[in-house]
Amino acid sequence: MNARPTRILGIDTSCDDTGVGVVELAPDGGIRVLANRVWSQTIHASYGGVMPELASREHVERIDAVTGDALAEAGLTVEDVDVVAATSGPGLVGALLVGLMYGKGLAQALGVPFYAAHHLEGHIFAAASEAELRPPYLALVVSGGHTHLFDVPREGEYVLVGATRDDAAGEAFDKIARLAGLGYPGGPAISEAAQRGDPEAVPFKEPLKGQKGFDFSFSGLKTAALLAHRAGARPEDLAAGFERAAVSFLLKTTLRAAQAHGRDTVVVSGGVAANRALREAFAASPVRAVFPGQGLNTDNGAMIALAGAAALRAGRPPSPLSEGAVAYAPLANA
Ligand SMILES: Nc1ncnc2c1ncn2[C@@H]1O[C@H](COP(=O)(O)OP(=O)(O)OP(=O)(O)O)[C@@H](O)[C@H]1O
Ligand SMILES: [Mg+2]
Repeated sequence: MNARPTRILGIDTSCDDTGVGVVELAPDGGIRVLANRVWSQTIHASYGGVMPELASREHVERIDAVTGDALAEAGLTVEDVDVVAATSGPGLVGALLVGLMYGKGLAQALGVPFYAAHHLEGHIFAAASEAELRPPYLALVVSGGHTHLFDVPREGEYVLVGATRDDAAGEAFDKIARLAGLGYPGGPAISEAAQRGDPEAVPFKEPLKGQKGFDFSFSGLKTAALLAHRAGARPEDLAAGFERAAVSFLLKTTLRAAQAHGRDTVVVSGGVAANRALREAFAASPVRAVFPGQGLNTDNGAMIALAGAAALRAGRPPSPLSEGAVAYAPLANA
C-alpha cells in the first residue's frame, strides 16, 4: 500500500440528491471523511413525489459543481483523486446513469481505478465514519425505500434476515406526516411535532406481534393513524404515538435478530437513522449500536466513497467500465 493515504471520491445520484464526498484511506487501514456535499433537488416539491426525468436533468446540471465543492472542502484538486466510486444501483436508472457515467469518465481521464457501489452498501458503510466497521455485525437499513435487516458475517457478505412486507420506515413517516399536514420530508417533521405531543393519546398496536421471524410492516400503524386522524386526533399526538410505536418495533425486532444471530454490534443507517428517538432507544439497548455521522444518514456521496474504501481495503478488484446502472439490485447474496 502507498505510504500516503489513498483519496477516494464517491458519487451518488440514485434519486433526487446529487451527492459527492471524499474519503481518505490511511496506510494503516483507518478511514476518514474529508468532504461531503449534497445538492438536494427541490424541483419535485410541487409534484408530491420525485419526477425521474427531472431528477436526471438536475443531476446533469449540478454534478460538476458539487464535485468541485467537495474537492474544495477536502482541500484537494481533481489530480489528487486516487480512486473513484459511484452508485450503480438500485435507484432511478436515468438518475443513476448521470453519476455513474461521470464517475467512470473521471476515473478514465485520471487513469485511476473505478468501483461501482451498491447504494445500500453505501448506506451501511456511512457508519464507518463513526467507528471501525469490521464484520460480524447486523445492519438495519431504514430509509425512504428500504427497511432491511442484514446479517454481515464477513466483509462483502450480506444475508437478508428480515424486510418490510409493505412500506419502508421512511415512507411511513412521510405518509403519516402528509396525512397530519406536517409537511415533507416527513421524518424530521414527525420528530419535531412528536416533542409537543402525547404518545398515549392515540393507541398504536405493535405490528406483527408474536412473529418468529424478523420482518417489518407499517400498514397497521398507517391505518391506526388514518382512523385517529379522521376522529380528530391532534397532529402532534399522532406524531408522538406513531414515532414511539415505530421506534419500539424497529428496536425490538432488531434486538431479537441480534440475539438469534449472536451479534453484539448493530449498524443502523439510512434516512430514518437520523431520528433522535431511534438513536436514544438503541443507545440505551444492550447492543453496540453504530450510526452514521452527521449528514451521512440520507443519501450522500461520502457513504459511497466509504463503501469504495472498504472494497479497496478488502482487496476487491475494481469494476469494469462496462458496468451499467440497475434499477433493482438485491444486496443479499444468499
Ligand atoms: N429525523 C428523521 N426521523 C425519521 N425519518 C427521517 C428523519 N430524517 C429523514 N427521515 C426519512 O428518511 C427518508 C430518506 O432517507 P434516504 O435518503 O436514506 O432514503 P432514500 O434514499 O430515498 O431511499 P433508499 O435509500 O431506500 O433508496 C425519508 O423518508 C425521510 O422522511
Ligand atoms: Mg438512499
